[in-house]
Amino acid sequence: MLKKTDASDLQVAEPDSARPDPRDSFFAVRDIHAYYGESYIVQGISLDLNEGEILALLGRNGAGKTSTLRTIARVDDPQLRTGEIWLGGESLHDKQSYQAAQLGVQLVPEDRRIIGGLTVEENLMLSQVAEPLGWELERIYEHFPRLAERRAQMGTTLSGGEQQMLAVARALARDVKLLLLDEPYEGLAPVIVQEIEKIVRQIKELGITTIIVEQNAVAALKLADKAVIVDMGEVVYSGIAQDVLNDEDLRNEYLAI
Ligand SMILES: Nc1ncnc2c1ncn2[C@@H]1O[C@H](COP(=O)(O)OP(=O)(O)OP(=O)(O)O)[C@@H](O)[C@H]1O
Ligand SMILES: [Mg+2]
Repeated sequence: MLKKTDASDLQVAEPDSARPDPRDSFFAVRDIHAYYGESYIVQGISLDLNEGEILALLGRNGAGKTSTLRTIARVDDPQLRTGEIWLGGESLHDKQSYQAAQLGVQLVPEDRRIIGGLTVEENLMLSQVAEPLGWELERIYEHFPRLAERRAQMGTTLSGGEQQMLAVARALARDVKLLLLDEPYEGLAPVIVQEIEKIVRQIKELGITTIIVEQNAVAALKLADKAVIVDMGEVVYSGIAQDVLNDEDLRNEYLAI
């Protein structure tokens, strides 16, 4: 696979040799390479996050953002072939998705996966059938009053924004240490986006670490501490979220904003 050569003028991720030992990081990804069958998609991504930080993972359509989240959550596809993933000193790279979930990784996919035929409350309770448990229903309803009002409503009849809230709430019903949000604002009106942003801020205050993938890069960057931009499965920028907001060239080249 050809390596990119045109990114030399950008602040590219520091080499892995300059990074801390991944066992000492709260969350660390080291040079992961993942494939769908023979399609080589995630081509050497490294990340570091401290506890409670929010990372905006950005890039063009098809850059490999969803694939990176899926690899971190240890979903079967794409298949991780080399590289390491560590959360709180525990390795994830040698685990399966259910084990990654037990260790605190919760992926909220783009399609939200609300379970049909179940009420809001039943959807939440289903997250609590297996240990380790996270928030109790009461606490969830305190943070998500809209869900409290609709607890007896069928989950799939919720509005898009409410379904997104339910998907995030379901992750909190597990013992989440690393929350992976794939395009949480997709298709939502600005006022609902603000509600979700508020929830993500509350989650941050509680010390939960979040990676947010968003097409709405400005919204994600305003919320985030750190930013990583990927292109063709590689990191082309790694730095402070605010710096990306201030860097017009970078935004033009990789984010089209
Ligand atoms: N199941 C799959 N099998 C083969 N290739 C796939 C599969 N899923 C994704 N890809 C390819 O992997 C590449 C990265 O896709 P990915 O979904 O990770 O991108 P993305 O950055 O999330 O894009 P978007 O912003 O459009 O959601 C794309 O070229 C895509 O076509
Ligand atoms: Mg995607």
